[in-house]
Amino acid sequence: MHPIILAIESSCDETSASVIQHGKVLNNVIASQTVHHKYGGVVPELASRAHQKQILHVVNEAMVSSGISPEDLSAIAFTRGPGLLGALLVGVSFAKGMAVALGIPLIEVNHMEAHVLAHFIGESNPSFPFLCLTVSGGHTQLIHVKDHLTMDILGETRDDAVGEAFDKAAKLMGFPYPGGPLIDRYAQSGNAMAFQFPNTSVPGLDFSFSGIKTAFLYFLRDNSKANPNFIEEHRNDICASLQRHLISMLMQRVKQACDQTGIKQVAIAGGVAANSELRKSLVAHAQKFGWTSFIPEFQYCTDNAAMIAIAAHYKFLQNEFSTLDVAPLANLQIGE
Ligand code: KG4
Ligand code: ZN
Repeated sequence: MHPIILAIESSCDETSASVIQHGKVLNNVIASQTVHHKYGGVVPELASRAHQKQILHVVNEAMVSSGISPEDLSAIAFTRGPGLLGALLVGVSFAKGMAVALGIPLIEVNHMEAHVLAHFIGESNPSFPFLCLTVSGGHTQLIHVKDHLTMDILGETRDDAVGEAFDKAAKLMGFPYPGGPLIDRYAQSGNAMAFQFPNTSVPGLDFSFSGIKTAFLYFLRDNSKANPNFIEEHRNDICASLQRHLISMLMQRVKQACDQTGIKQVAIAGGVAANSELRKSLVAHAQKFGWTSFIPEFQYCTDNAAMIAIAAHYKFLQNEFSTLDVAPLANLQIGE
């Protein structure tokens, strides 16, 4: 069976649609919501409304640019969770409407599993088993990937996600949301050894980043007392030092997980996988320890429907369909 699937992603602040034919992604249409920028974070109510406004245009563009007519679709896929409930509802309801109208099955996709499966969009795919560090604004997880649809969480954050740590630190420095990419950009011309921050690691393979946020707040406050222009004068060095620190906390756990499991294939996924220091650090670790590293294209790191489409493709091949009473689940876990 060679399915043709339309996939819809609406879990947070990107409305996205993608068409996949015989396992090959044909397009990846993404409408990013800018309405949140002035609030310093995603406002759930505004996200739902923006999805509602954009979804028809985004789906239409994906269908038209794929050259596929709706009658040729084999299934409609959507993100069931995790994510913002109101935002997810828009995608789920739209997918149900299309599936009923066309008389074709529905496929629910777990957003975090989809971030991992983004590694199967291109040509050079990891083989099983591999480890995936999935790092986004909402999640930080180390995943043991046994098969396309079988994954175990080895460790995860006990509090803030690493993307949240980037964004909150950026907010404290007065950068607009999302600040992660800006920290990355300023860090390019900074000295990463200029400042030190505390290591807030917890035992085992879990992560903790909330302590960094507090330490960073005090660091800025104390230095700004002595020099009111501290942030402006040292912006690039602060960004480079903080970024190095956050990435080294992530990579410590990845190394530990490789040592514990004996797995030597390591992938990164999620929005923070776009971070240039993380990409460099993974390659350096791979060279040093004999790992093979897998880094997704930028467009498949941050939220997108192509990753939902590839996940749906594998679910279709396993006959994993959803019933029409399926509802979104904001806290959906990997494996559920
Ligand atoms: O996966 P994603 O698009 O959405 C969620 O599911 O959360 O991830 C968004 C997160 C934000 O926290 C953003 O600041 C972060 O990814 N991010 C980055 C970079 N690009 C995106 N963080 C650090 N450096 C980057 N280059
Ligand atoms: Zn995501």
